[in-house]
Order: sequence, then structure tokens, then C-alpha cells
Amino acid sequence: MKKIAIFASGNGSNFQAMVESVKNGTLPVEIGLLVCDRPDAYAIKRANREGVPTYHFSPKDFSGKREYETRLLAILQEFGIEFIVLAGYMRLIGSTLLEAYEGKIVNIHPSLLPAFPGKDAIGQALAAGVDCTGVTVHFVDAGMDTGKVIAQQAIDILPGDTSETLQEKIQMVEHVLYPAVVKKLLSEKKETIQ
Ligand code: GAR
Repeated sequence: MKKIAIFASGNGSNFQAMVESVKNGTLPVEIGLLVCDRPDAYAIKRANREGVPTYHFSPKDFSGKREYETRLLAILQEFGIEFIVLAGYMRLIGSTLLEAYEGKIVNIHPSLLPAFPGKDAIGQALAAGVDCTGVTVHFVDAGMDTGKVIAQQAIDILPGDTSETLQEKIQMVEHVLYPAVVKKLLSEKKETIQ
């Protein structure tokens, strides 16, 4: 079974959805670590409750991204982490982690990328007045939500939708889509020709 780390910065509802999928047997992975860049994030409480080890850090305690990612890489290797799932981790991944985990880092974003990348994608969609947005799961590269798209699901924006109602609809989709995509990615068999 592949050992994954989940990176989060806030509430951690997508972390929880992965945990539930592992517990009910639909996601055959081991969640070996929760990484969090905000020591007060609710995601850490969830991990403690679920018995998932955590590593949390404050970027301001380091001289920069290279220094904290070098420390992070050592921790990930110590825990035997093979794959990284970003779930509401609100930082760009730098070259230290990208090179060590090439093609093995995915992210979920609350829009139909390439529309509305970056922060507050839900607010951006509402401000633009579009009648449809959605959820994207993609590989992570050095850009802001620019990596290769793996899966997308559209969601209608209805008259009267607010950022709260839209976030609720988006997260309901995320909590089903993300574990399913991670399962598919990690169970795809690599064929070897002998
Ligand atoms: C999720 O909706 C995720 O798509 C979004 O943050 C939320 C985290 O929720 N991510 C981004 O906006 C990344 N650019 P959670 O902490 O409850 O899982």
C-alpha cells in the first residue's frame, strides 16, 4: 500500500474525506503524515483525533522556502512518504520538493482551471458572473495552479448562490472526487516489458 502525506493549511475537510475513504476501505493507501504550515489549523486537530502523525511548521521560522522544504523533505523521507496530496495547502511548492517528488504531487482547486487560479477562486467566479464553475484535480508544477489537469467536475452557479452556498456545493464534490482520483492514480499498474 502506498504511503501518502496530505498537506493542508486550514479546516482540513478534504483531509477528513481521505481519512473516511481509507477507513471505509474505498481508498487503499496509508495516510502516513499530515503536513501543515499553520500551527493553529483545525486540520491538525482532525489528524490528532484520527491518530495520523503531524508535522507543522511556521514558514517565518525559516530563512525561506528552500530551508523549510529541505526540512520537510527530510521528514517526508523519514516517514517513507511516496506521494503528496495537497488539500487546501495555500503555498506554492518549490523546486526542492518538486524535484524529489516529480510527478507525485497533486492538488485540488475550487474552479475549472485554467479559470480562476490562485486565492479565493469561489469569490472570483461569483465576481465574474459566470453560471458554471467546478473543481479541478491536477498535477503540481512550479506555477500557480498550472499543472496538468487530471480530473474536473462542473458545478452550476444558481441565482441566489453566495460564497457560502457555492463553497458547500464545491466541497461536497471535492470530498468524493479527490479520494476517487487519488485511488485511481495510485492503483494504476505500471506494465513492465521483459
Ligand atoms: C478546498 O476547497 C480546496 O479546493 C481549496 O481550499 C479548500 C480547502 O478546504 N484549495 C485552494 O483554493 C487551492 N488553491 P479544506 O481545508 O476544508 O480541505
